[in-house]
Amino acid sequence: MVARRGKLIVFEGCDRSGKSTQCAKLTDRLRKEGHKAELLKFPDRTTSIGLIINNYLANKEDQSDEVIHLLFSANRWECMQKMTNLLLGGNNLVIDRYAYSGIAYSAAKGMDLNWCRQPDVGLIKPDKVIYMTLSENKASERADFGEERYEKKEFQAKVEKIFEQLHDPSYWQVVNGDGSIDEVHQDIFSAVSEVLSADCGPLQKLWT
Ligand code: TYD
Ligand code: MG
Repeated sequence: MVARRGKLIVFEGCDRSGKSTQCAKLTDRLRKEGHKAELLKFPDRTTSIGLIINNYLANKEDQSDEVIHLLFSANRWECMQKMTNLLLGGNNLVIDRYAYSGIAYSAAKGMDLNWCRQPDVGLIKPDKVIYMTLSENKASERADFGEERYEKKEFQAKVEKIFEQLHDPSYWQVVNGDGSIDEVHQDIFSAVSEVLSADCGPLQKLWT
């Protein structure tokens, strides 16, 4: 019998919403429950494209808005073969940010949203997007933003507006990140458990 393909679970949300913590916790939990699970993140700063992105984010190197947008997208495309192999090999993938961040952060600069969407058309479509939100109150309690480009309150508010425009209720689940780490994890785990037991059919392409 051919093994059932793994599911693609993407986490999205603004900086500091708790995505990385929750991605790691979900991956651990899935493994403990006997599922095969791998954690990936975008940008993947380890590739040569990722290195340019890293320098851009650290304000060490400038790029035009168009160029950096296309590099973020290329950084996902360079991972598609690996992701396809893992998924078809029965591994569930937990991914910290994906094409939605690509669009939200670029469009928040004033770039045309439809232009921003095009380079990511045809990427593997997630089976579920966990969109993490955080109230103003909780955000201000968390450790301060770092020094990276985009880590500013006003900019994050614009990013959030674009995420709301991208929200597709057919496969997005909004998770309120205000609770404790364990409470939020429990909400995420129950949403993801449903996807894992569902038959999602063959891999699909995003926005086609
Ligand atoms: P982030 O996930 O915050 O990395 P780290 O956990 O190392 O801080 O990603 C870095 C920044 O890159 C973040 O501000 C969002 C931004 N970003 C884009 O602008 N476009 C993209 O396509 C992606 C994936 C991220
Ligand atoms: Mg960050």
